[in-house]
Amino acid sequence: MASYCSAFLAVATVCLVACSVRAQLSPTFYDWTCPSLRSIVRSAMTQAVGQDPTMGASMLRLFFHDCFVNGCDASVLLDDTQAMTGEKNAPPNRNSLRGYEVIDSIKAQVEASCRAVVSCADILALAARDGVNLLGGPSWVVALGRRDARTASISAAVANLPPASASAYTLMSTFAAKGLDMRDLTALSGAHTVGSARCSNFRPHVYNDSNIDPGFAWLRRQTCLAVGGDATMAPLDSTSPTRFDNSYFQNLMGRRGLLHSDQELFNNGPADWLVQLYSSNATAFATDFAASMVKMGNISPLTGYLGEIRLNCRRTN
Ligand code: HEM
Ligand SMILES: *[C@@H]1O[C@H](CO)[C@@H](O)[C@H](O)[C@H]1NC(C)=O
Ligand SMILES: *[C@@H]1O[C@H](CO)[C@@H](O)[C@H](O)[C@H]1NC(C)=O
Repeated sequence: MASYCSAFLAVATVCLVACSVRAQLSPTFYDWTCPSLRSIVRSAMTQAVGQDPTMGASMLRLFFHDCFVNGCDASVLLDDTQAMTGEKNAPPNRNSLRGYEVIDSIKAQVEASCRAVVSCADILALAARDGVNLLGGPSWVVALGRRDARTASISAAVANLPPASASAYTLMSTFAAKGLDMRDLTALSGAHTVGSARCSNFRPHVYNDSNIDPGFAWLRRQTCLAVGGDATMAPLDSTSPTRFDNSYFQNLMGRRGLLHSDQELFNNGPADWLVQLYSSNATAFATDFAASMVKMGNISPLTGYLGEIRLNCRRTN
């Protein structure tokens, strides 16, 4: 009995140590193996966003869709194979996620300097941060050491990514399932201060919802017709579509949220006070957004000996 107990304790201790080490990411992870990583990503993102400012938003969304589906493990970057249908063609992503070639280009530059040591998941975390910052948003310290998944799952993408039709309750429970609270949900939704959405995603809101400014609904219906033109785009923040500021929240208070899910955050519900806070205090938004991005970036990373360091972000080694 005593030896059984001590054997059990030993195993439990090893697990405690190993598991806590496994969960640790660190800003200094590549300091010896790839000291130029941060500057490579920064200059590549400066170039990409300089050529096309919408790329900042697209990198940010790629990271969100990576982290919410089996953790921040670059699973979203895997192309489909004969054996595996990945996440790229899941309904929330298909014909919508973009910027894969920017990641490919950064990865190629990183590989040229530091071969086979930096994960695609970490590159994505840095690219998202730089994208936000280059559009005028905050910066934050990105902890590193994530490894890349060997597999991806279309069904996990469908199950974990909230649709534009989601209610406040669904949004909160989807985020709670990832360890993110209402403050994180509200701050992170402020990502919709940049980028755009397709008519098919905002049509029900501008045609059928009542918690919308009538003039704004009318304006959006001019280019998003009741039938057809599903792919026609409109800015998520019509005030300043390529500026990472707090006008998304001011829009919500004026009932000019583009998506049903956006306006759910300011609809006589529990997040109203946060929308009000962020709309009137840009610093509070910037600070909370940065903190919540760090939290989101910590969702179940693969570390230690798990996963791999992919050589090409689109396929496993
Ligand atoms: C709260 C739940 C969320 C829902 C329901 C949602 C839904 C959507 C939808 C439907 C689109 C438009 C896609 C299209 O029409 O092609 C979109 C775009 C976008 N989302 Fe979200 N989103 C949410 C949260 C987030 C979060 C947490 C982030 C990042 C932190 C984010 C970042 C973005 C960005 C940047 C775009 C624009 C992408 C581009 O222009 O390429 N979203 N989102
Ligand atoms: C609006 O609601 C009606 C009745 O529920 C429905 O038939 C119609 O398809 C909806 N229109 C849009 C654009 O969602
Ligand atoms: C805005 O928010 C920041 C950060 O939370 C806080 O320090 C500051 O006092 C707030 N400013 C105002 C005017 O309330």
